[in-house]
Amino acid sequence: MTEIRVLSDEAQYRAHNTLFRRAMHWGPPTDEQWAVTLPSYEPGRVLAAFEGDEMVGTTQTFGGRMRVPGGAVVPHSAVSRVGVRADYTRRGVLSALMREQLSTTPDPVATLRASEGRIYGRFGYGLAGRVRFLRVDAKRAVIPGSPVGRVRMVDPDVADKLLPELHDAFGLGRPGEISRWPGWWARARDRKTSAENLVTVVHSGPDGDDGFLCYKVSEDKDFRHHLEVEDFVWANDDAWRDLWIYLTRLDLVDTIEVDAALDDPLNWLFEDPRVVHTKDVYDQVWLRLVDVPRMLAARTYGGAESVVIEVHDKLLPANEGRYRISPDGAGRTDDQADITIPVDLLGAVYLGDTKFSDLAATKRIEGARFDVADALFAGPVAPLCSTFF
Ligand SMILES: CC(C)(COP(=O)(O)OP(=O)(O)OC[C@H]1O[C@@H](n2cnc3c(N)ncnc32)[C@H](O)[C@@H]1OP(=O)(O)O)[C@@H](O)C(=O)NCCC(=O)NCCS
Repeated sequence: MTEIRVLSDEAQYRAHNTLFRRAMHWGPPTDEQWAVTLPSYEPGRVLAAFEGDEMVGTTQTFGGRMRVPGGAVVPHSAVSRVGVRADYTRRGVLSALMREQLSTTPDPVATLRASEGRIYGRFGYGLAGRVRFLRVDAKRAVIPGSPVGRVRMVDPDVADKLLPELHDAFGLGRPGEISRWPGWWARARDRKTSAENLVTVVHSGPDGDDGFLCYKVSEDKDFRHHLEVEDFVWANDDAWRDLWIYLTRLDLVDTIEVDAALDDPLNWLFEDPRVVHTKDVYDQVWLRLVDVPRMLAARTYGGAESVVIEVHDKLLPANEGRYRISPDGAGRTDDQADITIPVDLLGAVYLGDTKFSDLAATKRIEGARFDVADALFAGPVAPLCSTFF
């Protein structure tokens, strides 16, 4: 019989971390790794599955905030460290952990990054945000004009204090962006100190600091230099453009690699839009609407007409029922449904990455008036979550 417990002390947290790492085929944390990892264990948010006295499965959440379409910010659980001991898989351990986590989380929405695409749909998570992996041919990348602000390099000590403040001030620029927790910054700081060549630059405009960028450059056997963008956050178009001017004017660099939103306008920045190559599009945000009425009411809607959607949610039946979605907002209704949709697919359309009509074409949702629902849920920008966890 699998029992789920909330862990509460450091020895249990370390056993939790070791189990998760083994499930990922990694070794246990070294003392140095553990010192950096411990701050990410938040009391009350760490679950483990036990068979008798043996820990056999893990998960936890990091608490924070997420931006939804329209600009509102809601409490958010970032779900992480999901693992089941290899000698206990496919016996329902993860299912027990997910049931407990979803029924006890204090937050109305949860997101995660999935190691495999088949795991989380059954628990009500939908693929809600994808990202483009871009490679820029830096030697041919010409941005006409001059920068309008100033870019300065900052020391790791300054970055440690400044970056969390800047991220708090303007890090939630797109739907799907989440706030960063103290443990996230502890691990980022560790990456910075272990990668000796990691550079941080900060942009300032007329109102002060309004963008930052962390990158590192490596050299291949043919002496070509490749720059990887590790973190790139900006408050306005000038900061974004100036930081790209900085990157593309760096000496010696041949290529620049970066993750960007599906609708990122980077191609249009350059004289020659072909310097930007999309190397991959991959799934990033898996989203679970934990409190459907609250989350439907939290975002704004476009369009001109309303629809009624009927939501099915086996794991959290309080979400079941019909909701009228209109340009003025969303709320429960007894009216007849236009569209019937399971909660994982409602999660998939929630941030605007996927359309109702695309799901209808694959026969994964039923009903009519999908074009009206598309117009209601469409947003001016694609979602993104630039905080990896
Ligand atoms: C993924 C993992 C957590 C699943 O744990 P588990 O205890 O085996 O899952 P459950 O037994 O509760 O499985 C529930 C259902 O999901 C299915 N499932 C679980 N993991 C799956 C996977 N990786 N691929 C396909 N199906 C999977 C099971 O077959 C089962 O289906 P059923 O209800 O139709 O029988 C576990 O295999 C693991 O630790 N994997 C390695 C680490 C990892 O990838 N972690 C996720 C990080 S995001």
